[in-house]
Amino acid sequence: MTELKNDLFLRACLREDVERTPVWMMRQAGRYLAEYRATRARAGGFLNLCRSPELCSEVTLQPIDILDADAAILFSDILVVPEAMGMELTFGVGEGPKFPDPITCLADVEKLPIPDPMVELKYVMDAVSTIRRDLNGRVPLIGFAGSPWTLATYMVEGGGSKNFSKVKAMAFNEPATMHLLLEKLADSVAAYLNGQIASGAQAVQIFDTWGGILTTRDYNEFSLQYMKRIVEQLTRTSEGRRVPVILYTKGGMGWLEAIADTGCDVVGLDWSIDIDVAKARIGHKVALQGNMDPTMLYAKPERIRAEVKDILARFGHGNGHVFNLGHGITPDVPPQHAIEFFKAVREESVRYHG
Ligand code: CP3
Repeated sequence: MTELKNDLFLRACLREDVERTPVWMMRQAGRYLAEYRATRARAGGFLNLCRSPELCSEVTLQPIDILDADAAILFSDILVVPEAMGMELTFGVGEGPKFPDPITCLADVEKLPIPDPMVELKYVMDAVSTIRRDLNGRVPLIGFAGSPWTLATYMVEGGGSKNFSKVKAMAFNEPATMHLLLEKLADSVAAYLNGQIASGAQAVQIFDTWGGILTTRDYNEFSLQYMKRIVEQLTRTSEGRRVPVILYTKGGMGWLEAIADTGCDVVGLDWSIDIDVAKARIGHKVALQGNMDPTMLYAKPERIRAEVKDILARFGHGNGHVFNLGHGITPDVPPQHAIEFFKAVREESVRYHG
């Protein structure tokens, strides 16, 4: 394997010394980039793009070229796992994801298989190895999956949701059905992430986008314990290096200690907490990833830089910080603002290291 030229991200995840704070951003390959929209048009839609390893690699590398990001993230979607479990998935133009035939009862859950990532998700494994080939050691590659709870919300609601009425009703009225679904998802996701690691992913992130809609008790019961079950099954060393695991729960800042106790290496922060507070709570245990408000990218570059400086100053001197947004970049951000954001992190963070 080619040697990594820039391993700042992997070192920061493990709280090792770095010369400056590494930076990448959730959804860095996405619609705010004209280059992404052009490749998606050539693919003939989002899901076709996800299924083409060569085009996945092309869009994964776009933000490495354009932003000089310190890590690449596999281009795919969390919902390819339920699709591989036999659920039809559609993405209409300008619409969110839809499962036309959602999960409604125990019999639906019993029918779901645990997919073999090397078979049903082979196109993702091929994307991972193609991206590694094309990156040629420039920066590490992050693999990812959705948390069991977040996947379950889409599978039971049939798509995005405002009130989460169906998935909550199932959790409260038919807990055994919900737990069987979450168990199957946890084992599917663990096998899928291990497949990504075997194919060349050098770190993995679990996205728990909807953990924050739960009460503390329900978060532990329906989301956190299943993420822990995944973490316990993951391959932690590959190619002679530790493979960092990042857990990100949007809306989960009240539960940082519990998240840090799962055995993950990095806790992803949303923008609702000051990073100094998060560091005081869990910084002795794990690295922190985050946490600029994604909407700060609508501001002028000077204001973005001031925010970057504030976050860096709050984290302070020392290791264990991966700069990121608190959630994904939105499609209507001017690309130049993203470029200025990355540049500000690279320049302003040097003084906090060494
Ligand atoms: O971060 C990256 O650059 C890697 C790619 C990535 C995508 N989806 C591509 C994508 C990642 C990591 C995801 C994860 C994902 N997908 C999550 C968890 C992260 C989060 O944002 O909270 C969720 C909940 C999904 C499900 C999903 N996919 C939704 C709800 C939507 C539609 C809403 C939206 O933001 O557009 C998608 C579509 C999607 N996934 C797009 C991209 C680039 C846009 C599709 C398009 O190009 O038209």
